[in-house]
Amino acid sequence: MRKIAVLTSGGDAPGMNAAVWAIIKLAAARDISVVGAEAGYDGLIDGNFQELTRELDEGGLAPVSGLDWLAGTGGTFLGSSRCPRFMEPEGRAEAAQRMSHAGVDGLIVIGGNGSLTGAHLLANECDVPVVGIPASIDNDVGGSTDAIGVDTALNTIIEACDRISDTARSHQRAFILEVMGRRSGYLAMAAAVAATADAVLLPEQPLDTDEILDQLESLLRRSFATDRSKRRVLIIKAEGVPTPTLLLADQLKERVADLDNVSVRTIVLGHLVRGGHPTFHDRLIAGRLALGALDALEARTTDVMVGWQSNIGTKTQDPQVSTVPLADMLVETEKLLDGTSDVTAMRMHLIREVQGVLAL
Ligand code: F6P
Repeated sequence: MRKIAVLTSGGDAPGMNAAVWAIIKLAAARDISVVGAEAGYDGLIDGNFQELTRELDEGGLAPVSGLDWLAGTGGTFLGSSRCPRFMEPEGRAEAAQRMSHAGVDGLIVIGGNGSLTGAHLLANECDVPVVGIPASIDNDVGGSTDAIGVDTALNTIIEACDRISDTARSHQRAFILEVMGRRSGYLAMAAAVAATADAVLLPEQPLDTDEILDQLESLLRRSFATDRSKRRVLIIKAEGVPTPTLLLADQLKERVADLDNVSVRTIVLGHLVRGGHPTFHDRLIAGRLALGALDALEARTTDVMVGWQSNIGTKTQDPQVSTVPLADMLVETEKLLDGTSDVTAMRMHLIREVQGVLAL
């Protein structure tokens, strides 16, 4: 293997840059040059590649100068996109041709389940080995306990919960705090435990608006009853729960209008949670998944993802990293999202067991 390409795709996740940096360093040390496709699959289709390694006068390769800040930064310096052209076979054929013209003989795709679906299709349609690395704050990639970015996102969320709790306690308020996650409630679920939230609303456990309101009303009445007089109620709601957060808050306010001195507020954390310096854990898994991905490419393994502490797949030289066929990853992902996976069932069971959290 002489030259590989790397790209980041879909929603950026803190630690993507750390993964790219690790790929560059590891590949250069093995005399493999690296190019980065700009803005995800768009760059692959348009042939927008940037050199990420350089030749040394004394022979051998090194990372291009001026990239040593990469590992500690959020976002993705290569840029990212959600690329509708890549969903069409013509787009993927163009990408395969571009790679062949550029002399690329291996591709690493860093992204979430949509991006890895694209990697799976490409792997089956071109001669170049394709390996995926899971990176998405949503933690909705089957076959990897953690995706790159999740730990940082959770740390940001719990810091926000702590801050909101300070102000909520000062005024005896209930807050509904919405976190990202598209179809996955993982961020809400994990944050609820760490922030000792009073309730969590998850798409994996669907309830209609009236059922949610009934439970929240009774939670507020219990919590703020005079013999208990809790100072704060924190309700974490996952983005994937269809009832809009503002509507929920308005209707809840009406239902508890008779409670003196109790108010309900909302906050949607949104994209704030996607940014920021990656945590130690995200940098760690970024480096080790990068090693697994490069090893897989060198072995000319294709159509796989490297997963962290995976429940499926084949162990690599790193006991925490497995190669998982992308087709199996997609099946696992669907089960994660529709709540039928053992992993989701266990998570739901554990959250029910955790004192202080009422999983609605
Ligand atoms: O997949 C990551 C994610 O941040 C989701 O949590 C969210 O639903 C989505 O991306 C937002 O996408 P965009 O950045 O395109 O608005």
